[in-house]
Amino acid sequence: MLKAIAIAAITALGLPGAAMAAGEVGHIEDVDFSFEGPFGSFDQFQLQRGLQVYTEVCSACHGLQYVPIRTLADPSGPGLPEDQVRAYAAELLPIWDEALGEERPRTLTDHFPTVAGDGMGPDLSLMAKARAGFHGPYGLGINQLIRGMGGPEYLHALLTGYTGRDQEQAGTLLHENTAFPGGWISMAAPLSDDRVTYEDGTPATVDQMSMDVAAFLMWTAEPKMMDRKAVGLVSVLVLLLLTVLLYLVNKRLWAPHKDKLKP
Ligand code: HEC
Repeated sequence: MLKAIAIAAITALGLPGAAMAAGEVGHIEDVDFSFEGPFGSFDQFQLQRGLQVYTEVCSACHGLQYVPIRTLADPSGPGLPEDQVRAYAAELLPIWDEALGEERPRTLTDHFPTVAGDGMGPDLSLMAKARAGFHGPYGLGINQLIRGMGGPEYLHALLTGYTGRDQEQAGTLLHENTAFPGGWISMAAPLSDDRVTYEDGTPATVDQMSMDVAAFLMWTAEPKMMDRKAVGLVSVLVLLLLTVLLYLVNKRLWAPHKDKLKP
C-alpha cells in the first residue's frame, strides 16, 4: 500500500519534468502582482499603464471583444474619468451599427473591437485565465495555490521570453521564446525598451510594460476579482462567528448533564 502511494507520488511529481523535457511547457517566473492573496487588489495606475501598452502596441493585432468599454471607468478597474473613457471609445475602430445600416464611432456602451485576419493574434479578453493552467503537476494548480502563479505570470514570461533567435518554418517566421509551449511563436517580440512613454514617469522597460499589460489583461479576464474576494472574506468571517456561537451553544446545552458522566 505504502509502496503504491510512493510510486503514485513520484510519478505525479515527475510529470512536469517529463513534459518540460519534451519542450511542451515553457519557463515561467513568479511575479509579485498587487492583486494576489486574499487582501490583494488591482493597482489602478498599473491598470492604466497596461491599458496604454495594450492600446499603443497589442491592439494592432489583438482584440478585446468581451470587454465593455464603459468598465474602464470602474473604480475597481482602471478608474478613468467618464469623459476620458468616452474620448477613448471614439478613437477605437468604428463599429457596424445594424439599426443605422452603417458604421459609427464606438460609444461607452460598446465593446472593444474584435481584431481578426492574416497575421493577427487571438483575442486577449480572457487570455489571462485561459493560460493559467501551465503549473504542474499538470492541471493541479499547485504553484497557483502556493505562490499565486497563474495566467499573468505566463503573459509576463511570454513577453519577456524572447531569445532573439528566429527560424523559418513552412514559410512562416517563428521566434524563439522560452515561455511559449514548444519554444517557437509566430508573434514577433512586440515590446522593446521605451516602446511607450508613461505619463507617470515610470521607466518603460520591457519588464515593466510586460507586468503592466499582464495586470491589465488579468483585469479584463476577471474584472470582478475584488468583489469576489470581498464576498469571500465576509463569508469566512460569518462562518467563524457561527462556529464560535455553535461552540458556546453546545457548551450551554450540555452543561446540566455534564456531572452525570462522572463516575
Ligand atoms: C504584429 C501583430 C502582433 C502584435 C503587435 C502583438 N501580437 Fe500577440 N500574437 C500575434 C500572433 C500572430 C499570435 C499567435 C502566435 C502563435 O500562436 O504562434 C499572438 C499570440 C499572442 C498570445 C497567445 C500566446 C499563447 O499562449 O497562445 C498572447 C498572450 C499575446 N499574443 C499577447 C500580446 C500582447 C500582450 C501584445 C502587446 C504587448 C501583443 N501580443 C502584440 C500577433 C501580435
